[in-house]
Amino acid sequence: MEKPRISVIGMGFVGLVTATCLANKGYKVIATTLESELVEKVNKGIAPFYEKDLDELLKSVVSEGNLEASLDNKHAVLNSEISLVSVGTPMLEDRSIDLSYINICSLEIGEGLKEKQEYHLIVDRSTIIPGTTRNMIGKNIEKVSGKKMGKDFGLCMQPEFLREGSAIFDTLHPNRIVIGELDKKSGDVLENLWKEFYSGEDIPLLRMNIESAEMVKYANNCFLATKVGFAMDIARICELMPDMDVKDVMRGVGLDDRISPKFLNAGAGFGGSCFPKDVNAIINFARTRNFKPKILTSVLDVNDFQAKHMVDIAEELAGKLEGRRVTLLGLSFKPNTDDMREAPSIRIVSELLSRGIFDIIGYDPKAKETAKKVFRKRIKYAKSIEEALKDSECVILITEWDEFKTLTPGDFKKHMKIPNVVDGRRIYDYEKFHKEINFRSIGRI
Ligand code: UDX
Repeated sequence: MEKPRISVIGMGFVGLVTATCLANKGYKVIATTLESELVEKVNKGIAPFYEKDLDELLKSVVSEGNLEASLDNKHAVLNSEISLVSVGTPMLEDRSIDLSYINICSLEIGEGLKEKQEYHLIVDRSTIIPGTTRNMIGKNIEKVSGKKMGKDFGLCMQPEFLREGSAIFDTLHPNRIVIGELDKKSGDVLENLWKEFYSGEDIPLLRMNIESAEMVKYANNCFLATKVGFAMDIARICELMPDMDVKDVMRGVGLDDRISPKFLNAGAGFGGSCFPKDVNAIINFARTRNFKPKILTSVLDVNDFQAKHMVDIAEELAGKLEGRRVTLLGLSFKPNTDDMREAPSIRIVSELLSRGIFDIIGYDPKAKETAKKVFRKRIKYAKSIEEALKDSECVILITEWDEFKTLTPGDFKKHMKIPNVVDGRRIYDYEKFHKEINFRSIGRI
């Protein structure tokens, strides 16, 4: 059977990684974006952002001619049988979802379909509020193309679960595929695509209606964020009495196979392009229908509060930090990425500044350039760990990069003015560090 040609609308993490993986398995793929700079880079085989193994894979699929980047959605639609929509759905000022990219690209897909005779399947991969695939994407396409959904074109919503930092692995080895379908034909076309792509692998595949699939994504991220929020709450309780340790507590809890050990690490807070945005968006959606989700609202409160709490711990340990140098180790929202969207470091820097602590120096193995765009001159940027520790009177470890894990109490003693260290990710051996330097960590006193 001949492979369908695919267009991927949107070249962020999800779009570009999906496009590259499809192209690597021999599919002809056109990926589109609004940014000409990105098109130029990708057509030269250069990854526009850091993602493990992407550079190499992209180079090979572009040189083989399987992936083309373009600015033209109409061209992409006319030269493919299936379009996967993965444009950004960022958070607006009021914390609701920005659907403008979905709106624009679906109108442009409609322009393409207007000139097309054959059946075409449109699949939303972006995280969008329930109802949007049918009422915005489907209806926009109908309006512009004059065609009917279900008859002339198919419509599906397939939530994406990949994590930054392991996006390629997650795309090649998903633990399930969820297909929300307008009708049987739409679902069949999409199921066939993935059955072929994952042939030989045994991946559970669920089919349901579009709105439930849209909600799967929100419920999924909300549950994971709730697990992390819960772990942070338990960590606070563990800090109320000596000798309780959240790490051990969560190890004990995680072995219950109804719970699982994953996403129970209490730390400096959750960030990234999904958790804060998605929890906020679904709360907002519910509020507009007169329901206030209590658990989810508390999860956001716990997360917001964690930044203040980290700085409280730092000042309990080191005394007032005004006028003294504070070092932040790790600025990205998690290791192995240079992404700083909603990173805990942003909330921690705001908290430090609000307390009049201006002498802040940050070090991150990959996110320095992103951090400069976020913080500008509000903090200083070190080129190495040593430089970051020099003259410092307090370290706050925010992101658990591997290169921080090998640091010893001796390293902090050697380079810092006073070795006060707050371990916001529980990467250091509490007993060992506690004995040798002034040390505090989340979830243990
Ligand atoms: C997440 C989801 O995992 C993924 O399925 C979805 O498609 C997109 O959102 P991602 O944002 O890449 O992926 O990062 P993830 O690894 O889930 O971590 C999110 C945040 O939670 C990070 O800031 C991380 O540090 C924090 N976290 C995670 C914890 O604080 N503790 C944990 O135990 C796990």
